[in-house]
Amino acid sequence: MTTAHELDTPPRPWSADPYADALRTGRGPLHLRRDDGWLLPLDVERWCTRADSVDRALLDLCEGAVLDVGCGPGRLVAELAARGTPALGIDVSEAAVAHTAHRGGQALLRSVFAPLPGEGRWGTVLLADGNVGIGGDPRALLTRAAQLLAPGGMLIAETAPFDVDERVRVRIVGGDAAETDPFPWARIGTPALLRAARPQRWRPVAQWSADGRCFVALRSRTSNSRAEPPKSTAVLSSQRPRNPSPDSVVADA
Ligand SMILES: C[S@@+](CC[C@H](N)C(=O)[O-])C[C@H]1O[C@@H](n2cnc3c(N)ncnc32)[C@H](O)[C@@H]1O
Repeated sequence: MTTAHELDTPPRPWSADPYADALRTGRGPLHLRRDDGWLLPLDVERWCTRADSVDRALLDLCEGAVLDVGCGPGRLVAELAARGTPALGIDVSEAAVAHTAHRGGQALLRSVFAPLPGEGRWGTVLLADGNVGIGGDPRALLTRAAQLLAPGGMLIAETAPFDVDERVRVRIVGGDAAETDPFPWARIGTPALLRAARPQRWRPVAQWSADGRCFVALRSRTSNSRAEPPKSTAVLSSQRPRNPSPDSVVADA
């Protein structure tokens, strides 16, 4: 039977042991398990190492201040910080935020759907490593990303490496069979993400794949209808070395 306490306390799967333990050891196995038993491996070893060449090429496209949504243990935020790019990670996992800070990146313990610093002023929003699945509704996440970005800002999303568009209920399952409560997640490939983005007037500016990973860059609506290519000179000039506080990351870009 569901208790009043359970209703007051929504499940917090990414704060639970399987994910925190994997981040602590830097090792899996760690999976998302669908209700029908299908397992999606989570690449926790890669997340816990330094940004690789595919990550670095992705970060080369970032413009202005970067918000890394679901930053995990922070390899992307740490790489951006090392480049002197203003960047903030947000994550709902205490362990992820602590790891990001330990690596020299700035991070806030916050859901992407909660109020965030710099709403409407971020130059780039990142949804890497399948984070376009957060919340189980990519259209709602696109809407939220548009609220966070400055007009004409860039969303870079990593998509599933095949044509899929599914909303699922999953649990996080660790190697010792510990598992979380179920929560909504989504998997979406590039064609379906582009279809979802069109009615919201996102402009596709790039799609690419590297090392089995797929990415899409979309520009949010501007008052000016002309689509800019990625990476304007004005944005490059904002990438100066600094180490600002979370609230000032976007203001300083
Ligand atoms: C698939 S992992 C991505 C790992 C990460 N991108 C990295 O570089 O290590 C999903 C991440 O999103 C976080 N997350 C889940 N729901 C979230 C939400 N509503 N807002 C922000 N982060 C969330 C999880 O805690 C987890 O760290």
